[in-house]
Amino acid sequence: LGNGLGATPPMGWNSWNHFHFGINETMIQETADALVSTGLSKLGYTYANIDDGWGEMTRDDNGNLVPHRTKFPSGIKALADYVHGKGLKLGIYSDAGYFTCGTKMAGSLGHEEQDAKTFASWGVDYLKYDNCHNDGTKPVDRYPVMTRALMKAGRPIYFSLCEGGDMHPALWGYQVGNSWRTTDDIRDRWESMISKADINEVYANYARPGGWNDPDMLEVGNGGMTKNEYVVHFSLWAISKAPLIIGCDVRNMTEDTKEILSNAEVIAVNQDPLGIQGKKVRNGNLEVWAGPLSGYSVAVVLLNKYSYRRAPVTALWEDIGLDPSTVVQARDLWEHKTLERQFVGSLTATLEPHSCKMYVLKPVA
Ligand code: DGJ
Repeated sequence: LGNGLGATPPMGWNSWNHFHFGINETMIQETADALVSTGLSKLGYTYANIDDGWGEMTRDDNGNLVPHRTKFPSGIKALADYVHGKGLKLGIYSDAGYFTCGTKMAGSLGHEEQDAKTFASWGVDYLKYDNCHNDGTKPVDRYPVMTRALMKAGRPIYFSLCEGGDMHPALWGYQVGNSWRTTDDIRDRWESMISKADINEVYANYARPGGWNDPDMLEVGNGGMTKNEYVVHFSLWAISKAPLIIGCDVRNMTEDTKEILSNAEVIAVNQDPLGIQGKKVRNGNLEVWAGPLSGYSVAVVLLNKYSYRRAPVTALWEDIGLDPSTVVQARDLWEHKTLERQFVGSLTATLEPHSCKMYVLKPVA
């Protein structure tokens, strides 16, 4: 969407994956504090996004959305001021239907202009827009009403389409939003995570600066996968130029969780200015994912999907877009080491079950 936002995939945090409806203004404030104190905000995680459950079921007498009286007693404007005071941005959630998916709080259908103005007046910076309980018309017709309303609201607001993937939003999302969900909801399980990455990969050619494919938010740190599996999750999201929206409790992260989410080299792949989504270039249980970066470098993920055996995985230059004679220097982004020898034609690593390696290959003169 040509609103000047999302030149690189958005980074931040969202309440849904860990807390679902158990949200309130204190924990959002504490989360904002934690994003700063853990160093995550410095790495680029600047959006603190409230999901479903922040509002009352019904509008006020003037038709305005009302923050939940007991969970957000100080209102969203006060929360936005707090979050902005920390150098962060505030995101909120609504629905292109009569009420929202889970809590059934009031949705924005028929109130788009009024709600966009309300969000802007509160100082909201990001809107995630769901698609439940609508009037049965097509999202491709309904979502642009909010796009236009946001464009007129007088404040830049990142627009995240959360249609669920059924209507192939990648095919029309670029005109309408800054990112679009390509899948239904992720769960904190290996199979779910891999399937979201795979479905999202199909639409790789539609991603570009200003409009990104969204395979759903991160589950890193929520406890349902091993450390290696979370490393795979983060690596695949990074190379896929997916929004990096943390979904765990950042106030209580383990060292492993913090280490994964704070890998500046992996984040740099995600945030590379070229903005080309990486693709799966080798299929099967031993996969290779690759995508070009600025400066003629190439990002590569080698992935072992077997649950029971170690195996070597090879990236061939012809698969990853390099001329076979190109000599490269390989940087291992999880070991934080530049490999001593240089490579030409291929690179092989032996991987533990359910694990990956991630490299940046840089041609040497
Ligand atoms: C469905 C979305 O896909 C989830 O991420 C979350 O926003 C819920 N709706 C909230 O009800």
